[in-house]
Amino acid sequence: MNKLRAVITAVGGYAPDYVLTNHELSQMVDTSDEWIMTRVGIKERRILKGERKGPSDMAVHAISQIFEKTGTSPDEIDLLICATVTPDHIFPATANIISDKLGIRNAHSYDLNAGCSGFLYALDTASKFIEAGAKKKVIVVGADKMSSITDYTNRNTCVLFGDASAAVLLEPTTEKVGIIDSILQTDGVGRTYLKMEAGGSVMPPSHETIDQKLHYIYQDGKHVFKYAVSRMADVSVEMMKKHGIESKDLAWLVPHQANMRIIDATAERMNLDKSKVMINIQKYGNTTAATIPLCLWEWEKQLKKGDNIILAAFGAGFTWGSILIKWGYDSK
Ligand code: UT7
Repeated sequence: MNKLRAVITAVGGYAPDYVLTNHELSQMVDTSDEWIMTRVGIKERRILKGERKGPSDMAVHAISQIFEKTGTSPDEIDLLICATVTPDHIFPATANIISDKLGIRNAHSYDLNAGCSGFLYALDTASKFIEAGAKKKVIVVGADKMSSITDYTNRNTCVLFGDASAAVLLEPTTEKVGIIDSILQTDGVGRTYLKMEAGGSVMPPSHETIDQKLHYIYQDGKHVFKYAVSRMADVSVEMMKKHGIESKDLAWLVPHQANMRIIDATAERMNLDKSKVMINIQKYGNTTAATIPLCLWEWEKQLKKGDNIILAAFGAGFTWGSILIKWGYDSK
């Protein structure tokens, strides 16, 4: 009998309506459209407005689309994993809140934090449950409200991030499609270069942590850039070599959307034409755990059964990795 694999059978996505442009940012901090476009490649990003709204609200939109598209009922889901660095609350898990809001009652659900690699880590974890025969319908969702931890007086970070959520449904198959392989890595040396210092148990919120702006993203951009450029490319090339895949055999690269220059460098190392690279950083910026599924959602109609696709990410931790998938369906 053929090996049991996990295959993506549907995709959903959601980006909030409010568009924060480079022009608006240039009225808030000393920056310009020209600097942001040449150094990062972002034109605009979406911001979740409204009181008491969190990643769970965006995730509910994304997952509801999957239910509508596939006719799946919430009762059929038996596992939901939410990748996020901006949970609704420290606890309970955002995944539990999403499950409640959607009426998912027969699943266990939990959050997973692996920075911008969160979606890849979650997809890998979910696929193992399916390959083991333990779960049949699994939702993996990436959801981040980066605006909630962004300091809009700091030009080093406020131009980079946006809010969004996107999700996939994973199911078992014995066909030769689905999640083929993952290479995931971590190096804790990165923990000082990209972080949110306060708000956890080591440094709980206090007047001092607020005065010192320690509840915002801190990033040593240059250092992170150096690592990201080499690690994301290394791991993607390693995946190609491991499976004897040449650039002509690859239908798509789906890179984490942090910086256009990192994406270009990765594609170049893979010897891949830019027409095969999913890029929407200009519209959404860096939405952390949502970038990769948001690309799959936007490109879904162009994907064909059997397409070789490499997903690649690098993020806080440091965490990084690549996943090779063979796409499982032609879109209607
Ligand atoms: O998703 C998780 C992983 N994260 C990443 O992969 C991000 C990796 N890092 C990066 O993408 C880039 O390092 C940044 C986009 C964050 C920054 O680009 P950079 O080319 O590394 O710029 P820099 O931080 O070295 O700054 C260069 C100059 C500085 O001015 P001085 O000191 O040379 O006078 C900055 O103050 O650019 C200045 N600068 C800005 N100028 C206008 C920094 N941010 C801005 C800005 N507008 N928004």
